[in-house]
Formats: sequence, C-alpha cells, structure tokens
Amino acid sequence: MARCSVCGSPAVAHIRYQRRYLCERHLIEYVESKIRRSMSRYKMVRPGYRVLVPVSGGKDSATVLAVLSRLSRETGFEVIALHIDLGIGEYSVKSKEASMKAAGKLGVPLVIVSVKEITGYTIPELARKAKRPVCSVCGLVKRYLINLVAMEIDADAVALGHNADDLAVYSMKSFITQDLSNLPKLGPKTESIPGLAVGRIRPLYEVYEKESYLYALLTGTPFLHEECPNVDFNSMENRLKVHINSLEEEKPGVKITMLRNMAKRIKDYPKPKLPISKCKHCGLLSSGDECSFCRLTRRITGRPLGPKAREAVRSLTSSLQLAPRQDSAYKS
Ligand code: AMP
Ligand code: FES
Ligand code: ZN
Ligand code: ZN
Repeated sequence: MARCSVCGSPAVAHIRYQRRYLCERHLIEYVESKIRRSMSRYKMVRPGYRVLVPVSGGKDSATVLAVLSRLSRETGFEVIALHIDLGIGEYSVKSKEASMKAAGKLGVPLVIVSVKEITGYTIPELARKAKRPVCSVCGLVKRYLINLVAMEIDADAVALGHNADDLAVYSMKSFITQDLSNLPKLGPKTESIPGLAVGRIRPLYEVYEKESYLYALLTGTPFLHEECPNVDFNSMENRLKVHINSLEEEKPGVKITMLRNMAKRIKDYPKPKLPISKCKHCGLLSSGDECSFCRLTRRITGRPLGPKAREAVRSLTSSLQLAPRQDSAYKS
C-alpha cells in the first residue's frame, strides 16, 4: 500500500506532478495551502471584502465554499453563498438540497434565486421558447443572475468554482477557435467594472478536478455526485478534455504550467472588441443598449425582465445580515 510522503500513513491520493503520495489529512492541508497560495499570488481578496460564492451543488463550488468560509475567518472577509434554481427537473431539486446542506454545515448565509419565479419559465422552457441550446441559455441566465446578486449585495468579488482541468480546456478551446479576447476572462481574477459588474476570482485556478473532488469528499462537505442531464459528452470541450488529460498523463503538471504562464501574459492578449455599456432596461453590464438577459426575456415574454429580476433579488437579499461596509476604497 502506498504511504503518505509526509507522515507515512496510508495514502489516499497520488499527486503525480509533485511525485508525492498524501494521506487524508495531508491531502486536505495540501489543497487548502494551494488555494491560499493562489489567492495570495493573484491577489484575489483583501481583508474587509464581501465575496459572493455561487454554488451549483457540485464538488467544485462546494470546495470553494468550504475553503473560503475557513479562510474568511483567518483573513477577515465576508462570504455569502448563492444558489440558482434552474428548474432542470430532479437534478435541480437535488442540487438545491446539496447547496443548502453545504451552506448550513459551514454556517454561511445562502441566497436562493429561482429562474422560474423570476421569468415564469424554467431553463429548459426558456431554451425551447428561444429555440436555443439549453446550455447556452443556462449559461447566459446564470451569468446574469450571479452578477445581479453580486451587485445587489455590493460584493467585491464573485468566487467561481472552475478548476485547473476546466480552465485548461476552455483556454485550449479559445486558442483553437482563435477567440483570443476570451482568454483574459479565463484568468484567475477579473476586475470589477464600477456600477455594472463585479469582478470574478477563481480560487481553484491551480487545483485539479480530482483534488477538489477529494477535498469535498474528505472534509464531508455535502455535494451532488450527479452531473447535469444536459451535459453533451461529444462537445468540443469534452473531446478536448480527453486529449489534454492524455497529455497530462505523459507530462504531469502541464496544465498548471500552461495556466500559470497564461496568467502572466493576460495583458498581452487582445481586449474584447465589444464596447462596455449599460443596459437601458436593467442598468447592468451590456455590450449594446440592451443586455442579453433583457433581450432574451423580451423576445420570450414580450417585456425585458431585468428590472423585475432586480426587484426580486433586492427583496430576497434584504433580509441578509451583512457586515457593515468599512470602506469602499477596498474596491478594485
Ligand atoms: P458552469 O458554468 O456550469 O461551468 O459553472 C461555473 C460556475 O458557476 C460554478 O463553478 C459555480 O461557481 C457557478 N454555478 C454553476 N451553476 C450554478 C447554480 N445553479 N447556482 C449558482 N452558481 C452556479
Ligand atoms: Fe446548465 Fe446543465 S447546468 S444546462
Ligand atoms: Zn500524511
Ligand atoms: Zn438588462
């Protein structure tokens, strides 16, 4: 039986790129120290920050929530969790339950926003009405609602659950399609745009999917083991994942090296061509005079639902007991 390279106890993981075996305790410490190091290397949070952690119910966002709730006490920042109920049948029912259990166990306040309550339709219904792929409508609505909640609670950062495996795939896809201006958006940190959008951080930037899975499992953080039923295993992302994984097999650590080098070069990639503007309906970030959420909902329901979503989120978040803001100079 393999033994932990630190203490000699039975190992639960082989960290190939570091040629180390780790036991349960040292794997947990290792993941936490990697996240702590990335957060400091990429200057993700400062004391006094309010961080919104969107949780899908899956392992990655469960790990982000668990580690951030712990670090928040050490570093002195505030954590609020958000779950969006997408209305994807049983999968969404279980995802919501897992998110509630995780937030409850960690003692983090959780905001739950229902797409059906806001728009009158579930994600699959919206996609059918818009005649668009369900994942693309889902992504659009999630991005909008995450930013909306972050703006309403005056968050300084949104902590997403993308891990190193996800980011290596998305980056390779951007290279292959030559969508180079997408690369800065995949970095460890994006800046806030005052009044329009809250910047994002990715605490799992250098954490492998397997490490994040083991962390959630070994710390007993509740998460849903199932994947969304709409996952397309033939998508370009999933095909690329297979290829990049086989490269990682041959050259352990190649994903982390690529992501670290990309993070250093972010300023060299082209800036997005679309201008930054404000949606005339909801006042949030848009690339024209109407944001994509207001356009989608206007086409489906006859009126843009951004303002209604803002009202609903304002009332949902009004009962949160937020820490008094110390100084808005913390904002980046
Ligand atoms: P995805 O777009 O599914 O790759 O998810 C990216 C990130 O968005 C996840 O790591 C979570 O941080 C967040 N997220 C995904 N689904 C939800 C959800 N239903 N509610 C809240 N946040 C979510
Ligand atoms: Fe959005 Fe699967 S989580 S379609
Ligand atoms: Zn050990
Ligand atoms: Zn809008």
